[in-house]
Amino acid sequence: MGSPISSSTTAATATDNAPQAQMLSVGLGERSYPILIGANLIDSTELLARHVPYRDVLLVTNTVVAPLYAQRVETALARALPGRRVVRAVLPDGEQHKSLASAGRLFDVLIGNRFGRDAAVLALGGGVVGDLAGFVAACYQRGIDLVQMPTTLLAHVDSSVGGKTAVNHPGGKNLIGAFHQPRAVIADTQLLASLPPRELSAGLAEVIKYGLICDVAFFEWLESHIEALRALDPSALAHAIHRSCEIKAQVVARDEREQGERALLNLGHTFGHAIESATGYQQWLHGEAVALGLLMAADLSRRLGQVSTAELARLRSLLLRAGLPVSAPSIGAARALEYMRVDKKVKAGRVRLVLMQGIGHALLSADYPDAALEATLSAWFDGDGAAAGASGSADAGVAR
Ligand SMILES: NC(=O)c1ccc[n+]([C@@H]2O[C@H](COP(=O)([O-])OP(=O)(O)OC[C@H]3O[C@@H](n4cnc5c(N)ncnc54)[C@H](O)[C@@H]3O)[C@@H](O)[C@H]2O)c1
Ligand SMILES: [Zn+2]
Repeated sequence: MGSPISSSTTAATATDNAPQAQMLSVGLGERSYPILIGANLIDSTELLARHVPYRDVLLVTNTVVAPLYAQRVETALARALPGRRVVRAVLPDGEQHKSLASAGRLFDVLIGNRFGRDAAVLALGGGVVGDLAGFVAACYQRGIDLVQMPTTLLAHVDSSVGGKTAVNHPGGKNLIGAFHQPRAVIADTQLLASLPPRELSAGLAEVIKYGLICDVAFFEWLESHIEALRALDPSALAHAIHRSCEIKAQVVARDEREQGERALLNLGHTFGHAIESATGYQQWLHGEAVALGLLMAADLSRRLGQVSTAELARLRSLLLRAGLPVSAPSIGAARALEYMRVDKKVKAGRVRLVLMQGIGHALLSADYPDAALEATLSAWFDGDGAAAGASGSADAGVAR
């Protein structure tokens, strides 16, 4: 890969316990921005003075995250720039609140406080808060600065980086949105300590995805460090987040608006969206649906002779060890295909899929035999897929 990324390690501050921050830079010309990764960064006066230098800040968070971290962030923000104004907006928890109505509430707060174009939005939360706060920052007065402080693993490695912001509409997820890159991403790994294990596993699905797309060595590293990650080992977490952000940042720097390569980041997602839609976004976390989507993409790739049975078994085993599901709900192949067709990736009537060419290489394809896709969908979604996935055999459900 090219080198739109620079990477360095800096002591965030000389005065407040000097947390170590690894820094990546997303290379987008004058809109380039740093991703800072490390433990206890949200307490660092110097880091916040440098990366959140705004007199007026709208701190957007939710009812779960606010009692855990909002006060700490506000205290550090006040120390970093005495006299500044921080207004806290706390949203209810949940994907259903990533809505135009919530955005409207935030606009009311911004306008009610007479925040100007020099104000900034600080998103403290998971992807829901980040996407919503980002959307509000993109629109308010045609765009004000945004700083992301992700608090879930998924947000650390995915949603906080890359500038996609959105809210949902009753007609579909993320239908209303804008590209709006943040000014900085402050990824404090210590915040993941309070995350429910199931949410941590969901984030690991996206981490595994990066290895599958373009880095077999990272995939191998994950095979030997997955337990350490689930145990929140600080250096393992920092490495996984750093490498994931590095891969995402490189892809975004080359294809910010998803004209081509950025679509590879959707590996597993078209299958995953079918599961999320068919189950009403209730039972399956996004990362869990993506995990199964990764397996299905690998299964289809195996049917096309691009992935070996052994590679498929390795992926299944890693997902299992990551605490992720490896069997599908019985939603039916025909219904799954319908949901896949309404996904944004349809072009000229064909579902474009991200497929694999071995572990560590992904490619976008509309050029696969329909029969192979149907066989994959049928194997996983027509009832026996679930049984096969649950059977415990490493390559069950795929060798048919
Ligand atoms: N913009 C993008 O590029 C992009 C990429 C991927 C996903 N997304 C979006 O991200 C959203 C999903 O994000 P998510 O998985 O972070 O879900 P989320 O924001 O709903 O967070 C998951 C749960 O964890 C809680 N939580 C958050 N941080 C916590 C912490 N530190 N301790 C304890 N609990 C905590 C939340 O309140 C929530 O209940 C979706 O809306 C998806 O569309 C966006
Ligand atoms: Zn995803």
